[in-house]
Amino acid sequence: MATKNKPTALVCGAGGFIGGHLVKRLKREGFWVRGVDLKFPPFTDTEADDFVVGDLRDQNFCKQITDRKFDEVYQLAADMGGAGYIFTGEHDADVMHNSATINLNMLDACQKRNVRGMFYSSSACMYPEHNQKDPDNPNCAEDSAYPAAPDSEYGWEKLFSERLYLAYNRNYGMRNRVARYHNIFGPEGTWEGGKEKAPAAVCRKVAQASNHGEVEIWGDGTQTRSFLYIDECLEGTIRLTRSDFEGPVNVGSEEMVTINQLVDIVADIAGKKMNKKHIPGPLGVRGRNSDNRLIGQKLGWKPSATLRSGLEKTYEWIERQVRSNTRAAA
Ligand code: NAD
Ligand code: GDD
Repeated sequence: MATKNKPTALVCGAGGFIGGHLVKRLKREGFWVRGVDLKFPPFTDTEADDFVVGDLRDQNFCKQITDRKFDEVYQLAADMGGAGYIFTGEHDADVMHNSATINLNMLDACQKRNVRGMFYSSSACMYPEHNQKDPDNPNCAEDSAYPAAPDSEYGWEKLFSERLYLAYNRNYGMRNRVARYHNIFGPEGTWEGGKEKAPAAVCRKVAQASNHGEVEIWGDGTQTRSFLYIDECLEGTIRLTRSDFEGPVNVGSEEMVTINQLVDIVADIAGKKMNKKHIPGPLGVRGRNSDNRLIGQKLGWKPSATLRSGLEKTYEWIERQVRSNTRAAA
């Protein structure tokens, strides 16, 4: 069989943004990869050796896809989106039900198949809202998680599930690894439709606008975030998965900017002068930044690329999507 002597990996959520990129990275490393998702990747053909379309809320499906030995299992499937999806409150029940069910099913299936350990993608959205009220000085140190008070049901589900993965470590001797991702961006991410996050939304709006045109921004634009480029995210993910450290640990950038600054950088990349129009919208926390002290200590790693360099690649890709959509509509 083609897998002989090759390491093997299972990527759940392989039709999504991070999962799709992870499949490519693992293929470059020489893995035999099975990808699983509700859908194929929307922007490129999958590079997975085996791609199974199906629903991870179905326990039997989870048993079927774990029917062989995997050296690495990455659980990235979730019902998720940016502020426009998770902070409106309209999807709370589905987000909690769908993502928790996936995690419950996959852990059970993997534990019963004697999978050594799984990687789980939690989120910075699990941090307490009260520590993220000062946009200049948010606290997202890992040990600030409790007493828990996330500002979204999405964050509560992440907190529940990260505890679940660690409980399986304690009770079943698994070696699960938990990362708390901070706003990941890059080409081939969702860029329209309501689930897109700020970097993609801003790139799209700037690409669609004319020079000296208007860009709508939710809120006053002084809210802060940090954004991590996809390649850096994969590096942190893989290093954690192969380490002896279980986490939870931040995987993010410490290059914090306001959303107004994000718009300025993208406009500069596009070579356009933009007028900002601040409008009401879902905002989330007032400030957020990764705290990379723990990952530095445990894994000796920190991101190396600047926000601007990641945005240059992302803008180029989104601008192409905007152009080809405009051509198709003409
Ligand atoms: P994504 O939405 O692009 O990918 C998630 C994938 O999961 C989608 O392709 C979706 O179809 C799939 N999925 C959802 N429900 C499923 C089901 N029932 N069965 C099978 N597949 C299902 O999101 P992403 O940005 O690639 O994020 C990957 C993971 O990282 C998620 O767990 C997300 O919560 C977490 N995360 C992402 C970010 C970020 O900024 N992108 C930040 C924090 C945490
Ligand atoms: N999405 C989006 N679209 N956000 C905008 C826009 C816009 O057009 N204009 C301004 N913003 C503001 C939002 O109001 C929010 O204050 C900030 O930009 C960041 O929004 P997002 O990037 O959508 O989400 P987030 O940073 O609040 O949360 C994201 O990161 C988490 C991890 O750090 C989400 O992707 C979560 O799912 C993720 O877990």
